[in-house]
Amino acid sequence: MYQSIPGTFDILPHDYEHGGVTFYGTPAWREVESRVRGVLQGFGAEEIRTPSLEPVELVARGVGQGTDIVQKEMFTIERGDATFVLRPEVTAPVMRAFLQHRLEQRGGTQRLYYIGPCYRAERPQRGRYRQFHQFGLEIIGADDPSADAECIAAMMAVYAAFGLTDRTRLRINSLGEPESRQRFAEALREHLAPHADQLSETSRRRLDSNPLRILDTKSEQERALLADAPSLATFISEESRQHYASVKLLLDGAGIVYQEDPLLVRGLDYYTRTAFELEGDGLGAQAALAGGGRYDGLAEAVGSKSTVPAVGFAAGIERLFLALAAAEAPLPQESAPDVFLVALGEEARAWAFKQAQELRMAGRSVVFDLGARSMKAQMKEANRKGARFAVIVGEDELASGQAQVRDLTKGDQRSVPLSELNAALQGTGLPA
Ligand code: HAM
Repeated sequence: MYQSIPGTFDILPHDYEHGGVTFYGTPAWREVESRVRGVLQGFGAEEIRTPSLEPVELVARGVGQGTDIVQKEMFTIERGDATFVLRPEVTAPVMRAFLQHRLEQRGGTQRLYYIGPCYRAERPQRGRYRQFHQFGLEIIGADDPSADAECIAAMMAVYAAFGLTDRTRLRINSLGEPESRQRFAEALREHLAPHADQLSETSRRRLDSNPLRILDTKSEQERALLADAPSLATFISEESRQHYASVKLLLDGAGIVYQEDPLLVRGLDYYTRTAFELEGDGLGAQAALAGGGRYDGLAEAVGSKSTVPAVGFAAGIERLFLALAAAEAPLPQESAPDVFLVALGEEARAWAFKQAQELRMAGRSVVFDLGARSMKAQMKEANRKGARFAVIVGEDELASGQAQVRDLTKGDQRSVPLSELNAALQGTGLPA
């Protein structure tokens, strides 16, 4: 007996509990995916699907050598001279596809959305998996602040579509441009270096490699050290400051509530200017529902000769499910068949097999019992599957040309001519 790898999970036809977490079934996943599509298409976004495997260099250069993702969370596969990586995120792959297929030639701004699996070799826990699923939107080709605001608006619209707006908190910040961030990093390093002995081991490492990441610390002691540290806002350029002000004005105008968080930094290196994160209430350690920002430098980092301004967000579907569970929001369960054909005897089974095909051609979902079992067993299964009707046909029914149609929700039963089965199911409240 094999088990799924820790940090991965099966999505079954029904919801199930494991380790205190509800794993939703395929009906709930389809509902979430379809609402996400509906909202993002409402923003004019078009779907893109990129491979799960990408060149390791794309991720290393795109996401950044110094990030946790590249340092310790990549699933890599060696094949001959090449190294592939299971994509840890989709922004760098979408930018690769944009450049590879010269999507700028389609004209205008490209709004590309995706839904699919990502892979990070993290320590698995509730809400944190090694194979997880993201949906996201990348707006490529616009440097205007309205693109940043539109991206945030689209992200918020998804959570609004699930009734979660009041259970989320949006934080935003401006990270400025790489040069000023570099100068800020130096200043921060100088500020913290004399106190290095009071930093955690991780933060001490970050002091060398990526001091900005220390800003996100949860440790009280480290927060105290940061209280009088230099602030990034004073380092960023006037253009970035104006860009940030315009983004905030647009969000205000659209009634999108946010908190400014000067300590917000993201775990990926490609951001410039706007950065944001959405947190959910009551989700414990894995509260980050979604995040994103502007990444004007990514295209060049992965080989483009020209700058391609872009902004995007991505969200974890498993985290969205955690938020829906915390809000006790109902999600659809498995879909029941319209009809369960209960056939008794060889001749009736042959008839029913053909009849099932006809009903399906007419758009009905029909289950035909494959086991030639007793009437009792077949009825039990029809009920277990939640079928709306059982159509019962045996030798007598074939001889008389009348089937017994039982409404399993109401419990009443009537005779219907075999040739009029489909017509008889119309007007019964079943979807046409
Ligand atoms: P990220 O913040 O690394 O950003 O991931 C986005 C979201 O994916 C997180 O907020 C979280 O909900 C979910 N997530 C990340 N890791 C895991 C995990 N191990 N298990 C479950 N859920 C997880 C990005 O990936 C950027 N590409 C976002 C972006 C798009 N920036 C610009 N465009």
